[in-house]
Amino acid sequence: MLLLRLCSLLGAATLTVQGNFDGVLVDTRVLEAAVKKFLNEQDELFSSQCAKTLSASWDYQTNITSYNMIRLLAAQEDYKTLQKVSWVMVGRWRAMHRYLQDPAIMRQLEAMSVLGPAALRTEYLSKYTNTVRGMTAVYTSATVCNYHRPYQCDLTLERAKKILRNSRDPKELAHVWRTWRVNTRKIRRAYPRFVRLANHAALANHYASKDELELFEYGGVDFKNQMAEAWEQLKPLYLQLHAYTRRKLRQVYGSQVVSERGPLPVHLLGDMWGQQWKISKLIMPYPGKRYPNVTNRMRKQRYTPTLMFKVADDFFSSLGLPRMPPSFWRDSLLQKPHDREVVCHSSAWDLCNGQDYRIKHCAEVSEEDLASAHHEMAHLQYFLHYRHQPYAYRQGANPGFQEAVGHTVEMIAATPRHLYRLGILRRLEEDPEADINFLLQVALDKLTFMPFAYLMDLWRWRVFDGTYEESEWNCAWWDLRYNVQGVKPPILRTEDDFDPASKYHVDADLSYTRYFVGFVLQYQFHKALCIKAGQYGWNSAIPLHKCDIFRSTEAGKALRDMMQLGSSRPWPEALQVLTGQREMDASVMREYFRPLEDWLRKDNARHGEYVGWRSDGEYCVYKKPFLMQPTIHSSTIIHHKDDPILQVN
Ligand SMILES: *[C@@H]1O[C@H](CO)[C@@H](O)[C@H](O)[C@H]1NC(C)=O
Ligand SMILES: *[C@@H]1O[C@H](CO)[C@@H](O)[C@H](O)[C@H]1NC(C)=O
Ligand SMILES: [Zn+2]
Repeated sequence: MLLLRLCSLLGAATLTVQGNFDGVLVDTRVLEAAVKKFLNEQDELFSSQCAKTLSASWDYQTNITSYNMIRLLAAQEDYKTLQKVSWVMVGRWRAMHRYLQDPAIMRQLEAMSVLGPAALRTEYLSKYTNTVRGMTAVYTSATVCNYHRPYQCDLTLERAKKILRNSRDPKELAHVWRTWRVNTRKIRRAYPRFVRLANHAALANHYASKDELELFEYGGVDFKNQMAEAWEQLKPLYLQLHAYTRRKLRQVYGSQVVSERGPLPVHLLGDMWGQQWKISKLIMPYPGKRYPNVTNRMRKQRYTPTLMFKVADDFFSSLGLPRMPPSFWRDSLLQKPHDREVVCHSSAWDLCNGQDYRIKHCAEVSEEDLASAHHEMAHLQYFLHYRHQPYAYRQGANPGFQEAVGHTVEMIAATPRHLYRLGILRRLEEDPEADINFLLQVALDKLTFMPFAYLMDLWRWRVFDGTYEESEWNCAWWDLRYNVQGVKPPILRTEDDFDPASKYHVDADLSYTRYFVGFVLQYQFHKALCIKAGQYGWNSAIPLHKCDIFRSTEAGKALRDMMQLGSSRPWPEALQVLTGQREMDASVMREYFRPLEDWLRKDNARHGEYVGWRSDGEYCVYKKPFLMQPTIHSSTIIHHKDDPILQVN
């Protein structure tokens, strides 16, 4: 059908460039005009279907009823159908690439040429969907046993996380850590099938394996090297933090539990996965020293959730960026309603019609929510700036960009300098000890996350491309945990376990690269904006973590120039527009933490602390024949509902 339409077009053409096309002369100009027409039609179709789906999704998430759920599911089905039909046609156009010369057309076709698992034939797609659904169902229904009452096995993950954050009993911590994994390890049975189907889906998208498909959005598999380099840049700082943390934990738990030169016992890090260490209370160098907590002051000044968003709107306006449209104030959900059930997880919405932009946030008046109001509104600014782009380009330059912009603005909004300029803080005081505490707190959140985020995908890439044998999946996981992160499990692991599956993103097939990239870019964006704002440079008295770009139209312009590109250009170009750099550069993150790194180096040297780690036992073996572990049965099943269209959180 497509070919017929082409042939009829050819008749009227004046020939400029010709090629032989199945015995027919092809005119590039005519062909390109036809592709453009196709792309315009697709753009309208996608925008309107996306608008329908997202508006149904909004209705559901802000008012959970079965009626709204049914409407949402129907809209999602329509969206998927459109995607598949469009994808098949894009494939046909791409097959004619020899006759297409306009690189803009080729780029747009390419952007539309990846469909993910939906490219599978129907019977395989349902196998894939069922496999992932099965794995996430195991995860969401898994529970943990109470350490003090061993037959009470109904603790939810939320409760388990609280215990890991607050308990100081290493036996209880190890118990919670282990029983969570006893329940999630049965995912191992499904995982080989998942890997086969995921690679199969990659092939259907014309990529050799799943890792290649995933890295398409980052410009290809060379991106693996860029991630490895970024991690190398951060390592010297991480080693210092690791050594310092080990000494502090040894003081709390004794050297029987935390050895002098060993890796860190992962169950002592305040987090189920040891991905962000929630142990600041245990290891703060200067207890009690912190930047002022402004929550009470905000309450005294009669802040409301809406006022916090007005303040965020003023922030962007002060950079010369547009204000939120009136519909934002009319339609957003800025605090928790009492007359219906809602999904409270905060999110920023682009309803795909070029007019409706909303935030859903159950905000309360606090310094944290003031910062996250800025974060969510930064996403909306990004949406607003690329709204003139075609649908295929209405997203960040790569999947890390949106979050990086959100994180940067959030970080700036929370600086004491900014709070002072807002009149929330009355005085600005210099306190080098509070600075170190602050930077350590941030490092426990951001820096400790980096090796974890890196190995989450490194392990999966090696599973997908066959580097790891199925029989060594779990020990390979611990190999990375030991070598990259310097952590060890509380008890010996075997190939009967499957510890990667204790993490939701592994079971739900969600890549982790975007988080890693988002954190690296955040600091690159931050430094570039601070330089534009005249707040940071070679002779600057203000350290990077204290800069505030409020009222700098220079910074605003740089941000605008980058955001308006959407993903219409390769991401290094977008990065260059804002930062002058074309590559991910984690040295900027290290620069941000420089005062902390200097402090840690001195402190570790003063205590003669060994920097790095050596093996202090066996962490994973293939079989552990005589030890039986209890199996735990769970009773509740919570079904996870997934959203097909990207929403930025
Ligand atoms: C919530 O959705 C129901 C439909 O299921 C609708 O009748 C009701 O008016 C909605 N409530 C609000 C507050 O929008
Ligand atoms: C700040 O103070 C508020 C109110 O006193 C409190 O609820 C909140 O936990 C504090 N935040 C931090 C980070 O300590
Ligand atoms: Zn976000």
